[in-house]
Amino acid sequence: MIWRLLFDRVLRRVDAETAHGWGTAALRLGLGTPLVRRAVRRVLAPRDPALRVRALGLDLPSPLGLAAGFDKDAAHVDALTALGFGFVEVGTVTALPQPGNARPRMVRLPADRALVNRMGFNNAGAEAAAARLSAPRDRTTIVGVNIGKTKRAPDAAADYRASAARLAPLADYLVINVSSPNTPGLRDLQAVDALRGLIATVREGMEQAQRTVPLLVKIAPDLADDDVDAIADLALATGLDGLVATNTTISRDGLRTDPAQVAAAGAGGLSGAPLADRSLAVLRRLRERVGDDLVLVSVGGVETPEDAWARLQAGATLVQAYTGFVYNGPLWPARMQRGLARLAREARSGSR
Ligand code: FNR
Repeated sequence: MIWRLLFDRVLRRVDAETAHGWGTAALRLGLGTPLVRRAVRRVLAPRDPALRVRALGLDLPSPLGLAAGFDKDAAHVDALTALGFGFVEVGTVTALPQPGNARPRMVRLPADRALVNRMGFNNAGAEAAAARLSAPRDRTTIVGVNIGKTKRAPDAAADYRASAARLAPLADYLVINVSSPNTPGLRDLQAVDALRGLIATVREGMEQAQRTVPLLVKIAPDLADDDVDAIADLALATGLDGLVATNTTISRDGLRTDPAQVAAAGAGGLSGAPLADRSLAVLRRLRERVGDDLVLVSVGGVETPEDAWARLQAGATLVQAYTGFVYNGPLWPARMQRGLARLAREARSGSR
């Protein structure tokens, strides 16, 4: 209620990235001290045993976590899990620091409960993320690290290898991001031959660091179904631990927003509600193809507990969201967890 008012009266009127900056500053101020965080965690973090899940060798308090892109520099992981996310995927982190694209680069389409972003992997680089992740952390916080390619790096392989070597020792799992639409050529790395090489390279990085953590690949919703199948087969053949599906889409089909406003938002990846159908379809296709063997992390357009539950029913091991958090505010993760726990209990007691 208060969030709706604040969103409609204030946040909607300022640039989306500026609002994001205020939000993260509030997280730092409000939840920066361990004592306050512990109190907030006690109230908001998921503790219902019905939500617990074991995946990727980890015991997670809930299958619902925060998707990559919100906490690019791993600066807020404890605050975000205190608010109720079961885990946080930080990044995308690139080997070298880079500023990303020119602003504005994040635009809201409220009529569609969607965002368009062309951030371009703005982040402080692997070294800075490693420093943050090495600092004392709340014991229970589970952190995945999503790695991508530095824009100006001539050799993608060396770039991913360096990030993997630096960050695997500090991560609970790693994700190879080959699906952002905002780094030129990145999505070409989803081609099976390129991806096979990249997976081997990232594994070399982990070996170099003498720490092997579960490895996943994050894919785009814009892949043709045959390509989704090919990646599923490759995941099994190479012994990947899982797939994250999906990243944002370059499609603008089926939007309610006035086309002129959509055009004005410009290029980039679309996230939020319009992505839900394709994300769910990709999840179903993947689960059918890989059987029970892989962890599937479903992301794209999840905004209600029912959405998250539907993903779990469709074969997701874990679920993530980003845009739903932006539209629904800081108490949303805890609300989602409560709703999800209720659905899990109802299913167990046979009333669903
Ligand atoms: C993202 N996303 C993203 N994904 C990723 O792998 N690396 C990244 O750096 C980012 N950055 C990013 C920035 C912004 C502003 C948004 C909105 C999204 C994609 C995100 O993790 C997720 O896959 C999609 O947004 C779909 O989920 P939602 O937002 O519909 O829940």
